[in-house]
Amino acid sequence: MKKIIRPHAEQAFAHELEALSRFDKKDKPANWKLSPWAVLNYILGTSLEDGTVITPKYIGDKKIVEIAIASLLSDRALLLIGIPGTAKSWLSEHLAAAISNDSTLLVQGTSGIGEDSLRYGWNYAQLIAHGPSKQALVAGPVMKAMLEGKLVRIEELTRIPTEIQDAMITILSEKIIPIGELNEEIQAIQGFNVIATANDRDKGIYPLSSALQRRFNTVNMPLPESIEDEVRIVHDRVIQLGQQMHVSMDLLKDSLTKKLVLIFRELREGYSIDKKQKIKASQAGLSPAEAISILHHARIHHHYFSDKSFGPADIVPGLFQSIVRQDADEKTILQEYTETVIKKRSEFKDWYEVLHTYFKEK
Ligand SMILES: Nc1ncnc2c1ncn2[C@@H]1O[C@H](COP(=O)(O)OP(=O)(O)OP(=O)(O)O)[C@@H](O)[C@H]1O
Ligand SMILES: [Mg+2]
Repeated sequence: MKKIIRPHAEQAFAHELEALSRFDKKDKPANWKLSPWAVLNYILGTSLEDGTVITPKYIGDKKIVEIAIASLLSDRALLLIGIPGTAKSWLSEHLAAAISNDSTLLVQGTSGIGEDSLRYGWNYAQLIAHGPSKQALVAGPVMKAMLEGKLVRIEELTRIPTEIQDAMITILSEKIIPIGELNEEIQAIQGFNVIATANDRDKGIYPLSSALQRRFNTVNMPLPESIEDEVRIVHDRVIQLGQQMHVSMDLLKDSLTKKLVLIFRELREGYSIDKKQKIKASQAGLSPAEAISILHHARIHHHYFSDKSFGPADIVPGLFQSIVRQDADEKTILQEYTETVIKKRSEFKDWYEVLHTYFKEK
């Protein structure tokens, strides 16, 4: 059987959504597939009476998820904002899967995007043959969501130029899309709402006008507060990605994930974990998503090309690349950290050796 590379959340977790729906006795808002209670449990994870385990999708503050769900019930849209790799897209996909059972209505924000992508386009063959008509109209994801009472996701809202973003104002405040050419309008049916994500760190972003800002409830997505949470996020996701490969990879030791996450946190925060030593902080965006990606790639590489046991030698090249990718000066930050912090720690002896040699060769 042919396997899909990346199933949508509602496909990958269909059994969980179905089990939750069976036990869901609470009120469902119009056109929601699950009640807010069940959506919260789908995102945070739980065990159901029949023993079905609902895996946690978002690990962190329950309040954040509650606020996000409540926003989608109000007349405002939801904006998840934060630095890269803090699960903005991930949470929005799972919210759309749980609420609408459809996470595919998606607009990817780019600087070259036109208003058409946010509203509607035309089938030119039809347009030329019959002139502007309903048949010639091609609904975009936002219009489809309005017609079907579903959630639509707008990824990277702040990459869309401000004057194009403003097309969202009528959609969000009046819940309509006017079709000037037909002298008609499309009205949203209940259940429709928007989840947008935006990155506040990247270069080349367009600010949101205050008119648009007022139409969103903004939720700031934090980096994981505790090291335990961060290790869990990274470890669980790497194991999951490994399982999707359908090859039997070496066991990933918890202790290894923990060490990489510790390095990430210290470099990010500019302090050793015990807060006793100041370190030059890295600006390289060392998020859980980055750690996940490093470890997953390291495991694949190791599986196919190495016969030693999986360890720092497999991970360091990815770590190095993540740090120097955006700014070559970051290399000295990692080198200094290696020589002043890692070197002193007996439990990091193997990491030190690999890092030290790596710098000598680079
Ligand atoms: N708190 C968290 N709980 C669960 N998973 C998390 C958490 N933080 C990060 N992740 C993981 O990070 C990965 C990437 O996150 P995602 O792509 O959603 O980031 P993003 O915030 O949209 O980043 P970008 O700004 O680059 O688009 C996901 O695989 C997700 O599992
Ligand atoms: Mg994203």
